[in-house]
Amino acid sequence: MGLFISFEGGEGSGKSTQAKRLWERLRDAGCPALLVQEPGSTPLGWALRNLLKSHQGMAPSTELALFAAARAELVEKVIKPELTSGTVIVADRYLDSTVAYQGYGRRLPVELINTLNAFITQGLKPTRTFLLDLDSAEGLRRLGQAQLSLVQEGETRQSGRADQEGQRRFEEEPLAFHRRVRQGYLALAKAEPQRFVVLDASKPPEVLEEVIWKEVSTLLANASLRS
Ligand code: TYD
Repeated sequence: MGLFISFEGGEGSGKSTQAKRLWERLRDAGCPALLVQEPGSTPLGWALRNLLKSHQGMAPSTELALFAAARAELVEKVIKPELTSGTVIVADRYLDSTVAYQGYGRRLPVELINTLNAFITQGLKPTRTFLLDLDSAEGLRRLGQAQLSLVQEGETRQSGRADQEGQRRFEEEPLAFHRRVRQGYLALAKAEPQRFVVLDASKPPEVLEEVIWKEVSTLLANASLRS
């Protein structure tokens, strides 16, 4: 079995950057690794991502069902088979996002989300989850600056983090929503301290990258000792 690592955090926390850096370092070290993004990373997942990020006025229960559908597809078609063949999976968001965003953010029942997550993932949880924790207002501020500079540089969505107009449904939620998401993540980390590594996302990306690499290197060394 390969290793399963996930990255979680609120908007503008830098988790996608860290997920990508880890994946690149694993590849550079000759380790078979796959970067997956949620929602996305399957044909159905990309289609659902588009709807989820842009469709206005969606009922919270619909939103939950669509995130669950995208994850079910990803687990079944990609994560499980790849892990079985020994690949290291680096996931940019996974099941904790739904607890934080739909549970704490949208205030849907967390018990129900846990049951749904357990069903669609068939109980598959990451070995380690890096939570990039950041003040919510600071995260949104960072995101605003990133969008602005990419737009000024004339970049498209494909080449950078900037989303097209109408694709920012979550970013545009009020600050109170993002604060609840952060509290949700911190509660999850507290409940499962052996799985979560909480990182102060206000630190420089290079510093965070080294902490993450050290932790993953140890996990890989332990895994190879066991096999
Ligand atoms: P994305 O552009 O990938 O944002 P980020 O870079 O912050 O991951 O958009 C994904 C959005 O979907 C993000 O705002 C968080 C939200 N989301 C949920 O609300 N629930 C979920 O289960 C997942 C996976 C994502």
